[in-house]
Amino acid sequence: MGPERVAIVTGASSGMGEALTEALVEKGWKVAMADIRPNAELTSKLGESASFHTCDVSDYDSQARCFQEVWDKYGRLDALCANAGIVDKSSIYILDHRDSDKIPPKPNLLCTDVDYKGVVYGTQLAIHFMRKNKVPGGSIVATASIAAIHPHETYPEYDGAKAAVAFHIAYHMTPVDTIVSAYNRCLEDDSLSGEAIECSVDKLLLVPRPEYQNGRVSQRAVTVWDPLFKMYHHELSQLPDAIA
Ligand SMILES: NC(=O)c1ccc[n+]([C@@H]2O[C@H](COP(=O)([O-])OP(=O)(O)OC[C@H]3O[C@@H](n4cnc5c(N)ncnc54)[C@H](O)[C@@H]3O)[C@@H](O)[C@H]2O)c1
Repeated sequence: MGPERVAIVTGASSGMGEALTEALVEKGWKVAMADIRPNAELTSKLGESASFHTCDVSDYDSQARCFQEVWDKYGRLDALCANAGIVDKSSIYILDHRDSDKIPPKPNLLCTDVDYKGVVYGTQLAIHFMRKNKVPGGSIVATASIAAIHPHETYPEYDGAKAAVAFHIAYHMTPVDTIVSAYNRCLEDDSLSGEAIECSVDKLLLVPRPEYQNGRVSQRAVTVWDPLFKMYHHELSQLPDAIA
């Protein structure tokens, strides 16, 4: 195992993923850039500090191949930055279908496959490989959107997919440096595990968890009941607040 920490950045070939890749390399990380299309200029600029891996995050086998390549190359995995994302590919409002008696065509849900399933696939693979680290463990940070909390009517499917991964919130007035700072904070501070950070212009703001409107009664509905947890996962949860 080399001394440098290793991160997989999905969607690394452009936009925020590209900026994040450069920032991590600057901080001494090795970055595995995972994307459906290469960015030859960036890969050659970063030299030994980065490697490109063709990866379609919406396809489990493709992500699995990418993780295996990264493991075989570096022998460690310290972070998954699940950043790849797209918006709706078809319109569920079907406004131009108003006057038709035909069943509308099946919607193209690639956005859900990339933005939600891709993060779930990546999370499972990261857990698998991070357990093999010499010191088991690592960080998983995902790029969500302000649309996860305040839905954007233009992209209804995107709103739902991003709500499902709302660890970290961003919006378009926000410079990419702020997003990179949020990733850096999440990667360096374990106390942020499970939290959502709103990135707004130059600010990083912790998003408070919504209160239970019916207090303990509602809270109990989402507290782990260990017999059920064991039924699904074959072991007890070991959570301190689980109901036995
Ligand atoms: N740009 C914004 O205003 C904004 C706002 C909030 C959240 N976000 C989110 O931030 C993330 C990055 O956005 P961006 O603006 O940098 O986007 P971008 O379009 O510049 O980059 C996205 C990258 O993801 C890659 N990609 C697309 N589908 C993929 C797939 N199936 N597998 C692997 N890679 C794939 C693309 O090739 C591209 O390199 C996305 O998750 C996006 O939803 C963006």
